[in-house]
Amino acid sequence: MNLGSIIENKSFEKRIALTPEIAKKYISLGFKVSLPNGYGVHLGFNDEDYKSLGVQFLDNEKDIIKNTEIIIQLGLPEDEKLSLLNENQTLVGSLNVFSNKAKLDDLKKKKINCFSLELLPRITRAQSMDILSSQANLAGYKAVIEAFQAYEKAIPMMMTAAGTIPAAKVLVVGAGVAGLQAIATAKRMGAVVFATDVRMASKEQVESLGGKFLTVEGAENLETEGGYAKEASEDFKKKQEELLSETLKKIDIIICTALIPGKKAPKIIKEEMFKNLQKGSIIYDLAAIQGGNTVFTEVNKIVEKNGVKILGEANILNKLPVSASNLYSKNVFNFILNLYDKEKKKLNINLDDEIIEKTLIK
Ligand code: NAI
Repeated sequence: MNLGSIIENKSFEKRIALTPEIAKKYISLGFKVSLPNGYGVHLGFNDEDYKSLGVQFLDNEKDIIKNTEIIIQLGLPEDEKLSLLNENQTLVGSLNVFSNKAKLDDLKKKKINCFSLELLPRITRAQSMDILSSQANLAGYKAVIEAFQAYEKAIPMMMTAAGTIPAAKVLVVGAGVAGLQAIATAKRMGAVVFATDVRMASKEQVESLGGKFLTVEGAENLETEGGYAKEASEDFKKKQEELLSETLKKIDIIICTALIPGKKAPKIIKEEMFKNLQKGSIIYDLAAIQGGNTVFTEVNKIVEKNGVKILGEANILNKLPVSASNLYSKNVFNFILNLYDKEKKKLNINLDDEIIEKTLIK
């Protein structure tokens, strides 16, 4: 089988879908791999690194698109590149089904098989393919690093001859994959960490990392069967607001990660709550691109309110694109391995397989 990948839209994506380490794995499976010149150079992966493994490099991306059966990407390619795809070709990526619905419908009409990996079911067998987890984990780590960098005081407690510096107090809002990594990272760096979530299952996980879980008293457990969060009721939101408003008086840094699949991010840090934060506090909002968890979050801007800085980027993974690409590339390989029939040497789109059925755009 022929597999390829083309240059991502560099204005917002530095990650790549195929690293040399993983190209080697496809080649040992018997795949023929093609890439455009300079594919991974910006991440320190030279063409020679790939060529020495047997990857073919082409000047013209059109030739790659036309001559490969499987194209692996991060995001959906630009329109002019998509228009070159033909019937029975397969496109795998994080295609953002909610915002690209019309384009994906067109591809489906052209009988192009599109698989979007953010739709993977959260089941044990899919863990090695789970791009949401691998990328959220890195995002949680980097959000803490960015927030600590912007914070103008020290993080760990320090007892010196000149006096004692207290440990910074961090609140993590949303204790999913990103939130749990944020808690672990902040703890390792010496912060005192608090966390809250609408899923009660997360309490034990937060505590096992040394965080203090803030329970919204008397609230129901807002967890779906799939393990995701449900939208909170007005009663829950009110109780959560009261609990957080009180807690914020002692918090220095907030890491926001709360998301509800397919919906806008819940607005958790409201305007009045800012009065309780101390000047110099930092909020890093990982939910920025989905609308943000604070009322003031703006994408790719540092907003200042009452002396509190709110940071949020469109794609924090661009700040550690090599690690993110290494994991993403492995996730995609594991997905394709599940899709590939080694004996017949072709893809087997078996809709009885939950992983394939859920990720195929229908
Ligand atoms: P996510 O990125 O959709 O949301 C982040 C967190 O925000 C979640 O923990 C959610 O409960 C929380 N949240 C939503 N609304 C909130 C609110 N109003 N206040 C406070 N917190 C709020 O979630 P993520 O990180 O993708 O994880 C979702 C679930 O999937 C978890 O149960 C996780 O353990 C599970 N999971 C399972 C995997 C597997 O078995 N393959 C792999 C990764 C995650």
